[in-house]
Amino acid sequence: MVKICCIGAGYVGGPTMAVIALKCPSIEVVVVDISVNRINSWNSDQLPIYEPGLDDVVKECRGRNLFFSTDVEKHVYEADIIFVSVNTPTKTRGLGAGKAADLTYWESAAWMIADVSKSDKIVVEKSTVPVKTAEAIEKILNHNSKGIHFSILSNPEFLAEGTAIQDLLKPDRVLIGGRETPEGQKAVQALKEVYAHWVPEDRIIISNLWSAELAKLVANAFLAQRISSVNAVSALCEATGADVTEVAYSVGKDSRIGPKFLNASVGFGGSCFQKDILNLVYICESNGLAEVANYWKQVIKINDYQKNRFVNRVVSSMFNTVSGKKIAVLGFAFKKDTGDTRETPAIDVCKGLLGDNATISIYDPRVTEDQIQRDLAMNKFDWDHPIHLQSLSPTSVKKVRVTWDAYEAANGAHGVCILTEWDEFKQLDYQRIYDNMQKPAFIFDGRNVIDPEKLREIGFIVYSIGRPLNPWLKNLSAAS
Ligand code: NAD
Ligand code: UDX
Repeated sequence: MVKICCIGAGYVGGPTMAVIALKCPSIEVVVVDISVNRINSWNSDQLPIYEPGLDDVVKECRGRNLFFSTDVEKHVYEADIIFVSVNTPTKTRGLGAGKAADLTYWESAAWMIADVSKSDKIVVEKSTVPVKTAEAIEKILNHNSKGIHFSILSNPEFLAEGTAIQDLLKPDRVLIGGRETPEGQKAVQALKEVYAHWVPEDRIIISNLWSAELAKLVANAFLAQRISSVNAVSALCEATGADVTEVAYSVGKDSRIGPKFLNASVGFGGSCFQKDILNLVYICESNGLAEVANYWKQVIKINDYQKNRFVNRVVSSMFNTVSGKKIAVLGFAFKKDTGDTRETPAIDVCKGLLGDNATISIYDPRVTEDQIQRDLAMNKFDWDHPIHLQSLSPTSVKKVRVTWDAYEAANGAHGVCILTEWDEFKQLDYQRIYDNMQKPAFIFDGRNVIDPEKLREIGFIVYSIGRPLNPWLKNLSAAS
């Protein structure tokens, strides 16, 4: 029986290995992590991450050929194939701080693999890493050659949170990069055989190591660039009376462009886009490609602009101040169908409103009060480091309340901001919300989930990203 060990039981390691175990009953898969809490949760009925469909897959395989353990060294020692799926956040200090990927966790995993291994192994980069990382990893693994052969592969993960199980079951592609030596190609074939249990052969792409490492960063940069493009256009739509949903629809009908990832929003979030683009920017700069670095930097600048623009719109609409006013925030996760808040635009928007002395009442169906308070107390880039690896114990942010109900959040509020596109926000009784708010009642839709006309009929002053402005807001725009 082939044995797989995955180091890192996070948003990628957990679901990815669960699907491999589901589709390959003849392979034993053990997911290991240094976090006892995380492993305990994976072994309980309350999985550490929320992901539609994940519970069923784990229930079917756990104890059969899928295991979760903190005994990292034992399972690394026993494995034939080791996936490394640890976090690779943005560096917060030292050379490249604020841009380069922090490979501390990866490096410590590599030293440990080198130390405990007693047989040949295939080591797979599952984490997103800078191009050429495999070269450094090879040096670590081979530093103390005991006659063991390590083959390094790059097999970046393309799943998106909220749809991870579907993405894993039916991937657009699986990418495997390896050395062009006979050993390298043998390792590529061994990993290909794992995926071939359920992924059609024409969807398994083989490339060299550096292309695979770089393709992951570039894919995320392209996706994020589309969102920044449509968000930039949303500002122009508001200035001209065009409607960004109509513009995006027409543009996306061109088969060369396609309809996906053209939803204007308050800004993109998540643990990947910003981190990976900063990483790409740093690599370009390190290679003396300042113009290329500046090109990609602009994607992040527009994202920051969009979040600021949203906050400014809220404050300027509400008579230029939200001081002492209650603002309800609906949605805190970085997108629907996940409880993940890493880099969520809600953090920047809430901090912006708190900066103008607002009182905030937050409701999100999947994010706990603890998490929200922690996020609002943290510094930039600390968000992306797993909670259990941090020593800080932030005090809760005053002026922030967290509720378990959208109506309670909006009760007595002067304004409502929708920051995550949860389906349930489309179904809310907005008449009820309006009746219990201060007047004039404002609603700022950062995800274009509500019908602005219907809400205007109720009496709301409505702002929807990139859509024609309420006369109230138009007058303010003209005056400013
Ligand atoms: P995560 O923070 O959820 O999980 C990483 C886990 O690794 C943590 O539980 C941590 O305790 C563990 N870990 C760290 N060092 C360890 C060590 N030395 N030994 C054992 N365990 C260790 O991160 P994630 O979201 O799963 O992301 C992992 C990687 O995958 C990152 O490089 C990320 O960029 C990439 N990625 C993430 C996504 C996503 O949607 N989250 C998608 C594609 C790729
Ligand atoms: C992303 C990539 O999609 C995935 O392939 C990669 O493996 C990890 O990074 P993820 O961050 O989980 O996945 O979610 P994604 O669906 O890409 O959304 C990222 C952010 O962009 C979210 O905040 C989302 O709300 C926002 N978004 C997405 C928009 O604002 N508009 C869109 O049209 C699409």
